[in-house]
Amino acid sequence: MSSSKARFDYDCLETIRRREKLKELRRQLSKKGPPQQSISFSGLLRHILTILVVIIAISYAIFANYPEPPLSPILYQWKSIGDEVERAFSYRGNKIFYIDKTNVDIKAEDSLTMLYLHGFPTSSFDLHQIFGNLTRNFHRIIAPDMIGFGFSDKPRFYSYSVLDQANLIIELLKMLDLKRIHLLSHDYGDTVAQELLARQHEGKLSFEIVSLCMMNGGIFPSIHRPIFSQKLLRTPLIGTIISKFGNYYLFSISFSSVFGPKTQPSRELLTDSWKLIRLQDGYRVWGSLLTYIDERFEHEDRWVGAIRRAMIPFHFIYGRLDPVNPSPQFETHFRKIIHSPGNVVIIDDAGHYPQIELPDTVVGKYLQFLLDNRFISSIR
Ligand SMILES: *[C@@H]1O[C@H](CO)[C@@H](O)[C@H](O)[C@H]1NC(C)=O
Repeated sequence: MSSSKARFDYDCLETIRRREKLKELRRQLSKKGPPQQSISFSGLLRHILTILVVIIAISYAIFANYPEPPLSPILYQWKSIGDEVERAFSYRGNKIFYIDKTNVDIKAEDSLTMLYLHGFPTSSFDLHQIFGNLTRNFHRIIAPDMIGFGFSDKPRFYSYSVLDQANLIIELLKMLDLKRIHLLSHDYGDTVAQELLARQHEGKLSFEIVSLCMMNGGIFPSIHRPIFSQKLLRTPLIGTIISKFGNYYLFSISFSSVFGPKTQPSRELLTDSWKLIRLQDGYRVWGSLLTYIDERFEHEDRWVGAIRRAMIPFHFIYGRLDPVNPSPQFETHFRKIIHSPGNVVIIDDAGHYPQIELPDTVVGKYLQFLLDNRFISSIR
């Protein structure tokens, strides 16, 4: 009996002990919960980071070894026009591509020569859609790819600047012995045009700018809004890293973002524009080229002053849906700052690249401007 009781007690004790153990185990489990989770979380983070680094390394390796696409027929055609020029031009030891097209149907005496200055990060190729209509109305068209752009050389260690691009243009026009030009410019080219105009006022130009027509560009630095990727590229270190990863997809996203919603760039245009950037790894010098945004602030008085004091016929063709030069601030500012003979011509549905987005409208407005100022007697 006593032994059975003892056994019972023992069993009971055993049960209690087991329960305690179970409780303890549960307590431990519930206590261990959080620390275990935090360990696995940081482990996960490490894994993600490792995977990310591997992905970046692989995509860079693929990108760095990825063959450039060949020139599309239209790019090939554009390059051929430039290759036909009588005299090759080099600037400070760098080969500069330029278009020089003469229309013999228009007499040279009418001094109808047009100079086109392209924007960032594109090239003279931006002109290709309106080139036919322009060549019919001008005696001669000159359209260089500035240093660092398009088919021109893109030296890696070079101090790119707007002042230097203006020198390049002056050298080119000296070589071609041109005396009077109608200047059509866009974006980055507008800034170069402002510098050329400032030199014209100082009597330091070897040629005369007879008329000036600009298209969407940050001529007023105070209201200019660089897009996110431009800001990133200008950030020290980050910019260097990002510019190494310049690729078609990033480019097409940011390029399309400055076009109007109804006039988005075609796939062909995106491929061709990217191809022109990839030549000589042009995206690598973007960080350096983008210093023009700071230059605009540095030379604000000189450059805004130049267009303010312009005594020549001056028009601005403005695609209103441009996020870089937002409406209505741009028009308001223009009308406030630029007095006669300046005028802003608005194109409602175009964005930052009106000559590509609505080429027929742009060439129509430009030729009308020349007609109104009696530089041409009819539109051909
Ligand atoms: C441009 O040229 C085409 C013919 O190639 C013509 O149909 C069109 O009207 C011209 N545009 C302007 C604005 O002159």
